[in-house]
Amino acid sequence: MDRREFLAGGSLALATAGTHSFAEAAQRPLPIIPMTDLIGGIEGRIGLDIKPGTHDFGTGAMSQTLGINHGYLGPVIRAKQGQTLPFDVANNIGDVSTIHWHGLHIPGDVDGGPHQEILDGGVWSPDVAIVQQASMNWFHSHMHGKTAQQTYNGLAGVLLIEDDASLSADLPKTYGVDDFTLVLQDKTFDGVGRMSYELTAEVFEDGFQGDTMVVNGAIAPVQQTVPTGLVRLRILNACNARFLDLSMQTGPMRVIATEGGFLASPVEVESILMSPGERYEVLVDMGGADTNALNVNLDGGGGFFANLFGLNQTTTALTLVRTGEQGFTGSLPTKLANLEPPRPADATVTRSFELQMDVGADLVALALDWENFCGNAGAMAINGMPMKMDRIDEKARKGDTEIWRISVDDMLHPFHVHGCSFRILSQSGAEPPAYAQGWKDMVHVDEGWSEVLVKFDYEAPEDTPYMYHCHILEHEDCGMMGQFTVT
Ligand code: C2O
Ligand code: CU
Ligand code: CU
Repeated sequence: MDRREFLAGGSLALATAGTHSFAEAAQRPLPIIPMTDLIGGIEGRIGLDIKPGTHDFGTGAMSQTLGINHGYLGPVIRAKQGQTLPFDVANNIGDVSTIHWHGLHIPGDVDGGPHQEILDGGVWSPDVAIVQQASMNWFHSHMHGKTAQQTYNGLAGVLLIEDDASLSADLPKTYGVDDFTLVLQDKTFDGVGRMSYELTAEVFEDGFQGDTMVVNGAIAPVQQTVPTGLVRLRILNACNARFLDLSMQTGPMRVIATEGGFLASPVEVESILMSPGERYEVLVDMGGADTNALNVNLDGGGGFFANLFGLNQTTTALTLVRTGEQGFTGSLPTKLANLEPPRPADATVTRSFELQMDVGADLVALALDWENFCGNAGAMAINGMPMKMDRIDEKARKGDTEIWRISVDDMLHPFHVHGCSFRILSQSGAEPPAYAQGWKDMVHVDEGWSEVLVKFDYEAPEDTPYMYHCHILEHEDCGMMGQFTVT
């Protein structure tokens, strides 16, 4: 079966399974993820316990999950630029794992990639120095071959970095009142409402596509009361593979920040196409109507087939209900940060990467062989080479500015680089949308080159190299990943 037939099959399956009964209950309250707030100071070490849990997503049934200090997902950790975070990450999930700090500008030896395995019963104690500016980051499993499964099961959390400028900025910033962190995921539930995840050849191809939206661990739509005024949404697409097209029911979205920090000024848009791994902060004006809603089109990346089969399903993720109380009284800021345009002329090195879906592997046979995770057999590749733990693919020099050019043989992929933020010069052969022109660590790759301007300021030696990879987690597990050093 070729790629096109796969896609058609997948889309048709989605059509019949698309309207899910679990989503039709009365709206649940938005779960506010407990915050570990370190801004006031850090006492002792910060314990993160990775462990099995149970969780009710709203189906009434308990799902077997994984969590970090919680039954499902991890805390929202809030820290400040200049702090060093002394983590003790204890693994008790019954399997090897790792925790990677996605988005952090940190050296390879504390990055938490696939080389920093935490054995079951073990503890990993990195001291993570926060050097970068205010930004929304996250952390998740990066266990090679099992990243997709472990992250899906719940090994993910959010790490918000603040700095002096963000703490004094005239923006909504009362957590859980006018400042919300939203972790968006797609899930599949079995007949009795337990979360399920089954790897098949098709899931390896498309990445896992769940039919039910989940926000902070609760099945969408969820509902939240908010005061009158501007409301801030910090959004993470933590789906394994789904691109999400986000829009507001009423009015525009004002994008204020990308993965690596604030934009120069708010960018007003109708919708944002958000890949897995991406983060955006938006302001929503709750000064007018009594309710507004964050809508999600689940087929954001589905383009051709979604249109062909009329499958552009839009779901409400979050309904905001205004209480009438006055909240944030400021107005929409006109300037957010000093953000110089990228200077490609500074680059002294250019590298090219071709993401390869089709390297001739028999995914049907491999999927049957593997036990619901990726057996690391090299079914996908970059530049002809599937990820290998003992092969360094690229060597960068600390302080060099580089241009990375990425292309792909089929479909839309989200490309991610560790240890840095970059600027997008072009995305799939075109200028990136204005809202994606800030500091990023994810870029979309479809037809045509995507090019990013990047500089590496921290070391990643051969025993703890950085990764670059597709952030469709099943592709990453299948080998669409490479390793590089910075020395
Ligand atoms: Cu979010 Cu290498 O990962
Ligand atoms: Cu990362
Ligand atoms: Cu991919």
